[in-house]
Amino acid sequence: MPPLNTPDMSTDVLIIGAGLAGLTVALSLPDHLRITILSKGPLNECASAWAQGGIAAVLDPDDDVEAHVQDTLIAGAGLCDETAVRRILAQGPQAIDWLQAHGVCFDTEENGRLHLTREGGHSARRIAHVADHTGQAVHHSLLQACAERSHITMLAPCRATELLLDGQRRCAGATIAHADGSQQRLLASHTVLATGGMGQIYASTTNPDCATGDGIALAWRAGCTVRDLEFMQFHPTALHIGGKAMGLVSEALRGEGATLHLPDASGQPSERFMLRHDERAELAPRDIVARAIDTEMRAHSLSHVLLDIRHHSRDWLSRHFPAVMALCAAHGIDIATQAIPVAPCAHYACGGVQAHTDGSTGVAGLLAVGEVARTGLHGANRLASNSLLECVVMGRAAAARIAAQPLYKHSRIHSTYRNQDKGLSIKTLPEMHIALQQLMQTHMGVVRGNHRLIAAAKQLVLWRAQWRGADAALRNQLVLCSLMVDAALQRHHSVGAHCNLDWPALETATATATATATA
Ligand code: FAD
Ligand code: SIN
Repeated sequence: MPPLNTPDMSTDVLIIGAGLAGLTVALSLPDHLRITILSKGPLNECASAWAQGGIAAVLDPDDDVEAHVQDTLIAGAGLCDETAVRRILAQGPQAIDWLQAHGVCFDTEENGRLHLTREGGHSARRIAHVADHTGQAVHHSLLQACAERSHITMLAPCRATELLLDGQRRCAGATIAHADGSQQRLLASHTVLATGGMGQIYASTTNPDCATGDGIALAWRAGCTVRDLEFMQFHPTALHIGGKAMGLVSEALRGEGATLHLPDASGQPSERFMLRHDERAELAPRDIVARAIDTEMRAHSLSHVLLDIRHHSRDWLSRHFPAVMALCAAHGIDIATQAIPVAPCAHYACGGVQAHTDGSTGVAGLLAVGEVARTGLHGANRLASNSLLECVVMGRAAAARIAAQPLYKHSRIHSTYRNQDKGLSIKTLPEMHIALQQLMQTHMGVVRGNHRLIAAAKQLVLWRAQWRGADAALRNQLVLCSLMVDAALQRHHSVGAHCNLDWPALETATATATATATA
């Protein structure tokens, strides 16, 4: 680590991350606590602010929580923790009420009821939304509420580079790096990781720049268990122009009837292919749709397939999907008259730091909330729009847990970097980051194979030895990628978002194991 060149600071609660999860914790804590929130980049640059589709919650009198639970368990491909699923989903209506109380104006029908949309894997309309820019509306309201509270301090841009432990191995805060290069220790009685996802370790992603999985590496170094890292969810429909992902085209378009097609020789939509892959067609869970598109692209040597929503009028589209319309228009596509070129790209980390639904982790004094956490809600594949809900439910529960505990005085605080890592510092070379992204894209993509996974693992070992002098950000990413590839190698079947062509699907693997045991 570079030397600390600024005196220590202290706070009661340190929240690393200013997305929906972090802001929910801050706004749910009592006013007598001093709270400090860090954001690695600008405050509005986070996945929460970019969310499009909305928030899943049972709000329609004809829907019920049991149906939401079953949809989540099915999407999770049998690997969800059912207790966590039930606990989080039961809180859906309260989470929406809480957001409304903080100024979020969800879209409503003429009768005043919330307008609910639908997404893949949901058996009912249950997504509360603000047109197709739900995240921006939600994040803006909460950010404003935080800015109005004098007990909340926001530091941005400011990056946590490591967690600190005390003599009892309790988390004591973090080392932070400011934009001017100065570093200091920020000591805290309670530390909350709310660092979001890790899409940016892939070359093609829907995620903002801040999503490099820092929280997972930080927590792992501090002694937390990390789980399910092989389940990187690929969103089926990112806008693809010139072979590059340019932004998300919300699943809500498919919820409103958009269909997926192969392009013909002139680039126009031809065969609708999803029914060949799954009877739920475009509304199958996300892993299935992403894999189907990937299969078709490989079979026909395509850079993208086409998403067609032209059955809706321009007026209807501009009311329901203004952000997607504007994104596509910026790339020369009029979604009212043209099909949209789309391809899958890295979107959501289903795994992460092992945490209970109240955020508590295996390290005392350290909580993990939101996308960085692995509660078991998502299993092997997240059901669309369950993540914003998880941020709010966990954020509120984590705040209640912190509020119920006394403030803590730490002694014998120390770094979580191993001795041999200390004192090394060279500038992060952008080429290293790009090389890492390419490796993950080609070796840990939608479809995997043992040969490539082993090659990736070897390359990562080599880089970890060669890049020991790189800065903390890059070394954290290296650790994370190694953990992900190891997790993928250890799973000897294909399930959910982890598809390894050298291992059978889970049903077959289970059936084989059962057959062997019985024999
Ligand atoms: P984020 O909102 O990503 O916030 C992470 C915060 O941590 C940021 O402030 C970042 O700066 C900070 N941070 C990270 N590392 C550090 C560090 N080392 N030091 C200091 N700060 C750090 N989910 C849904 O449920 N519904 C949707 O409609 C939906 N649409 C989506 C659309 C897009 C384009 C994307 C990318 C995701 C979407 N998701 C959606 C997923 C959902 O947005 C995320 O899972 C959720 O917002 C994560 O919230 P979070 O608070 O955990 O993390
Ligand atoms: C989307 O709008 O398609 C994203 C929804 C999600 O990631 O849950």
